[in-house]
Amino acid sequence: MNLANIVQKRKTFAIISHPDAGKTTMTEKLLLYGNLIRSAGTVKGKKSGKFAASDWMEIEKQRGISVTSSVMNFPYKDYQINILDTPGHDDFSEDTYRTLTAVDSVVMIIDSTKGIEAQTIKLFKVCRMRGIPIFTFINKLDREGKEPFSLLEEIEEVLDIETCPMNWPAGMGKSFLGLLDRHHQQFVQFNGNEAETYIPMDELENHSALVSNPTFMEAREELELVQEAGDAFSLESVLAGKQTPVFFGSALAPFGVQTFFDTFLSMAPPPGTRKSTAGIVQPESEEFSGFIFKIQANMNPAHRDRVAFLRVCSGKFERGMDVQLARTQKHIKLSQSQQFVASARDTVEEAYAGDIIGIYDPNIYRIGDTLIGGKQQFEFDELPQFPPEQFRKVMAKNVMKSKQYRKGIEQLVQEGAIQLFKQYHTDAFILGAVGELQYEVFQYRMKHEYNVEVLFESIGERIPRWLSDDQIDESLFDERNMLVKDREGNPVVLFKNDFSLRWFIDKHPEIKLVDLFEVNHYSQG
Ligand code: G4P
Repeated sequence: MNLANIVQKRKTFAIISHPDAGKTTMTEKLLLYGNLIRSAGTVKGKKSGKFAASDWMEIEKQRGISVTSSVMNFPYKDYQINILDTPGHDDFSEDTYRTLTAVDSVVMIIDSTKGIEAQTIKLFKVCRMRGIPIFTFINKLDREGKEPFSLLEEIEEVLDIETCPMNWPAGMGKSFLGLLDRHHQQFVQFNGNEAETYIPMDELENHSALVSNPTFMEAREELELVQEAGDAFSLESVLAGKQTPVFFGSALAPFGVQTFFDTFLSMAPPPGTRKSTAGIVQPESEEFSGFIFKIQANMNPAHRDRVAFLRVCSGKFERGMDVQLARTQKHIKLSQSQQFVASARDTVEEAYAGDIIGIYDPNIYRIGDTLIGGKQQFEFDELPQFPPEQFRKVMAKNVMKSKQYRKGIEQLVQEGAIQLFKQYHTDAFILGAVGELQYEVFQYRMKHEYNVEVLFESIGERIPRWLSDDQIDESLFDERNMLVKDREGNPVVLFKNDFSLRWFIDKHPEIKLVDLFEVNHYSQG
């Protein structure tokens, strides 16, 4: 098989959702279809603690949070699947956002009883910023939830994206009958725990029990309305991230999941091109290239090892191959490489564009690093910076340890574990994070790896806005709307709340404030 064919078969995606919408349940079903597990309930021991006893970072063990399923690779039908986990419970962090720089598409799960929730909005913004195609699965149809029309309206209004239902539910909860599958022109009957049955649309009239059921008839009328008044399906719009195909179903039952998965795979894009300093890199190009989007430290405390997660962007990765780290132009032999199947880590011998592999990191990689083979010379475009939400001043408990303290901060910040800001004039260190857990991890690692105890002083949740150097009038800012510098020295204002932000915009329309979520739209090549 040639490289182009191999690449076409790869589907690399993430599942995004608000906690408890059903991401784990869905992932388990997909692994079940991929014959990776025999029964559901074995992916991660979120509640049972099954895999929490593995050798990953102590703090995660303590919190019962599992990172063992960061990436899963498996073959399914004709495809090679790479699913990336987007940690979402207490471990929501910049890593969660950054994972989305390494995928070609996204499955968004929405709980039909709740609608769009906070974390879904945040993750969705990152997808839109990067122009990633989004496929929506509205879950928990076996429960009484919101009306399908109002769910679609919510997606369109809150997320500002066109929706196109691929199927339509007949009833929900106790009266759930099944799905009118628009895409395959069939009715998929829900039989409780029994297998699904399929009735072609043009044979429905032969099923008198169905066509005399008011719930079913209502669903048919609604579907007609959707067909007449709704947006027509456009794969082009889907691939441009402007329309989302919507599938209803139940991950738990499971119902409609396999059809969803198959349809999703048939539409989801294969690995795409990527921008670099030498122009666009094609996934079918013969020469190997890839970039690092996540570094997991201390997966095994006994060895202090670090694993860097690499997305292959072109060519063929072979274990033991010689590559160049573009930032330092140093040559590295990639002899320790892993792929991840549920909780297990296997050695990977070869990988292609779209694949995600773990490589041993002897403390030389940084997030965003480019690895290239052959005689190539380029770096991929920098990964975007994501706006943190919480901020804390940080200091060393013992001032005598300031050297280790600075070294520790510098390394952990470089690793992308947390973001560093400095207050104007005082130069006080301020740490910005997306999730609470990042502070705990930071504190823990400073203590155990650098032997420094740190103290925090919270300045609460803030809304960061970047502004240009020439627009700084320091007299406009104070503790409430605090002026700080980011790592590169760019000025940033940490607004106290939405009200302060709006008041400021009103008063000073001449000052251009930049929301990182709104920049870099469709920036990938
Ligand atoms: P997450 O990874 O997105 O956080 O969600 P997860 O899959 O863990 O699901 C959250 C809860 O919702 C679980 O129940 C799960 O069983 C339930 N759930 C998922 N999909 C469906 C569905 O289609 N229908 C219904 N009725 N429930 C669903 P739990 O009681 O919190 O956990 P568990 O003890 O059952 O694991």
